[in-house]
Amino acid sequence: MRRFEGYGVLITGAARGIGATTARRFADEGASVLVTDLDGARAAEVAEEIRAAGGVAHGLACDVADRAAVEAAVRAAVERFGALDVLVNNALSCHPDTELFEDQGDEEWERDLDITLTGAFRCARAALPELAKAGGRGAIVSVGSVNGEQDFGNHAYSAAKAGLASLTRTLAVHAAPRGVRVNLVAPGTVRTPVWDGREESLRLASAAYPLGRVGEPADIAAAITFLASSDAAWITGVTLPVDGGLLVSNVALRRALSGEG
Ligand SMILES: NC(=O)c1ccc[n+]([C@@H]2O[C@H](COP(=O)([O-])OP(=O)(O)OC[C@H]3O[C@@H](n4cnc5c(N)ncnc54)[C@H](O)[C@@H]3O)[C@@H](O)[C@H]2O)c1
Repeated sequence: MRRFEGYGVLITGAARGIGATTARRFADEGASVLVTDLDGARAAEVAEEIRAAGGVAHGLACDVADRAAVEAAVRAAVERFGALDVLVNNALSCHPDTELFEDQGDEEWERDLDITLTGAFRCARAALPELAKAGGRGAIVSVGSVNGEQDFGNHAYSAAKAGLASLTRTLAVHAAPRGVRVNLVAPGTVRTPVWDGREESLRLASAAYPLGRVGEPADIAAAITFLASSDAAWITGVTLPVDGGLLVSNVALRRALSGEG
């Protein structure tokens, strides 16, 4: 499939994990991809890998906490590719919870909200005027989490992801008359570098998933590209769980009730 021939795509936090795999998927389908990340060197490496595979990509350092850097990234996409058709908000910050809630610090809370939620707002604000020029194919896809829908710990990160679901709805309605769709994917546990060294946790987590495994970055990239594509032309404002059935199940309760322990 080459659904994105002639598209310009900007992805945040794309130096590794889900963002990097999504960048490769867009490029494989014909898009020109601006691979942005806090880690500009690694973003440049991902772009180089895409070019080596025959795709079109450029790497750029961009901290989504920095309004000027975000606006520069949008300008760079338009200057390099002639247009910006798709924005993928993927960057995140997630501090571990303190044992006692009252020990949570302002700084960690604010950082998680600033990168995960406000960062997506900054990018959407900068990109929207360009996406609105895309002749009806403009799309924003943000990466949320099952944490925005249910309790899995991580207070600030979860609040930020829930906020992202709300922003997706309000912005979808605002942007619809401008020909721009806005959607959210909410992944469950996905095997990315954030889980490095925690193989046993991933093995145990697999048992909580009705489909019997944790996710791979390609599972999420497939959903992101679907929502960005014309295949999703009549879908806007939704949160799509991509979670192996996690949110519709309660494996622990089912086991307890069936006496399996
Ligand atoms: N991996 C999972 O289990 C999982 C589960 C649910 C949701 N998600 C979501 O998927 C997305 C990607 O997760 P991942 O596991 O691939 O993460 P990751 O940590 O592997 O990659 C995230 C990238 O974001 C970059 N980044 C961090 N702060 C940034 C900033 N201020 N500006 C720009 N870039 C920044 C990092 O440098 C890194 O390259 C995130 O939105 C995350 O919340 C992941």
